[in-house]
Amino acid sequence: MNILLTGGAGFIGSNLLKLLLAEKHNVVVIDNFVDNYDYKFKIVNLLNVCGENADNFSFHSKMEDISSIKKKIGKLCSLVTIDICDKFSLEKVFKQNEFDLVIHLAALAGVRPSIEMPESYIDVNILGTLNILELQKKYNCKKIIFASSSSVYGNNREIPFSEEHSVDKVISQYAFTKKSCENLIHVYSHLYNFSAVMLRFFTVYGPGQRPDLAIHKFFNKIYNDEIIDIYGDGSSSRDYTYVDDIVAGIYNSCDLVMSNDSIYEIINLGENTSIGLNEMVEAIESALNKVSIKRNLPMMPGDVDCTFADIEKARNILKYSPSTIFSDGIRTFKNWYISNNINRLWK
Ligand SMILES: NC(=O)c1ccc[n+]([C@@H]2O[C@H](COP(=O)([O-])OP(=O)(O)OC[C@H]3O[C@@H](n4cnc5c(N)ncnc54)[C@H](O)[C@@H]3O)[C@@H](O)[C@H]2O)c1
Repeated sequence: MNILLTGGAGFIGSNLLKLLLAEKHNVVVIDNFVDNYDYKFKIVNLLNVCGENADNFSFHSKMEDISSIKKKIGKLCSLVTIDICDKFSLEKVFKQNEFDLVIHLAALAGVRPSIEMPESYIDVNILGTLNILELQKKYNCKKIIFASSSSVYGNNREIPFSEEHSVDKVISQYAFTKKSCENLIHVYSHLYNFSAVMLRFFTVYGPGQRPDLAIHKFFNKIYNDEIIDIYGDGSSSRDYTYVDDIVAGIYNSCDLVMSNDSIYEIINLGENTSIGLNEMVEAIESALNKVSIKRNLPMMPGDVDCTFADIEKARNILKYSPSTIFSDGIRTFKNWYISNNINRLWK
């Protein structure tokens, strides 16, 4: 298949890219290496896709490093470093390729920064998605898989979160953009017969995890004997989903959209378990054989108390079967962190 993968230099995108290439798909990656977190982490992601260990890579300037990774990965797929808000450049990519499917992961991710810079989130996440959809319509590629988020459930009190539950009460600008995109894509499914799968990811972790996410941040601080900030009393909990499980769910969704016309499905991808903040810290301490130094702070605005996915729909229609035990996932994260010398990227 000819696949357009947006956000392919990111955490989930690069893990997915590895599988798509192993399965011999033709992939065009769009990613603009935006500075929401250090671009070097995205270079490491793509080095790993090329089968290289980042410890052996010397970083120079952002431009040089991106040009170097473009050359390396160019043997496997095309990497186009444009912004999805740049409709003109985006159109050139559609004109030059006949895509069968778009997997749209590019976005500004994360709740807290969306409260600080709501305009950027609306621009990239909503208008960027509109650009993709309009070009899909124009170039007759009507299959899309979209990265939505568990954050759309807000502080839903019904546990576990089911796709049937109301998601009218989002509590952050980030969640608003994800819910809006689900609705926008529904419009394209209804008016133009797009086949669309909205995947609601529940806090994803594993090799390549974004440095702004709690597991990565805590891991790095505990590794370096620094203080970790615990927001709330430690009782908040998350359905942490191992990235290989997410990637398998996305991959199975490709079959679903490709073999059906005009479908519109919203599907949770989680592990169907919820792990407390204190338990998460203990798992990192045990993997590192260290004790953390904690500072307790009030809950952050926009953060939800608990996430917990009902994954019956994914099990039934995607044959989704998440299998990674949290302590094993943390150990794999540790191997990635150590072998790529991730510590040096934090300096
Ligand atoms: N990681 C999670 O726990 C999680 C949970 C729910 C949903 N999601 C969603 O999954 C997707 C991937 O998340 P991730 O954790 O891999 O994030 P990520 O930030 O690592 O990946 C997103 C990629 O998109 C690129 N990008 C951002 N803006 C762009 C633009 N304007 N033009 C082109 N490229 C752009 C970034 O450079 C980045 O490489 C996102 O849509 C995110 O909202 C992630």
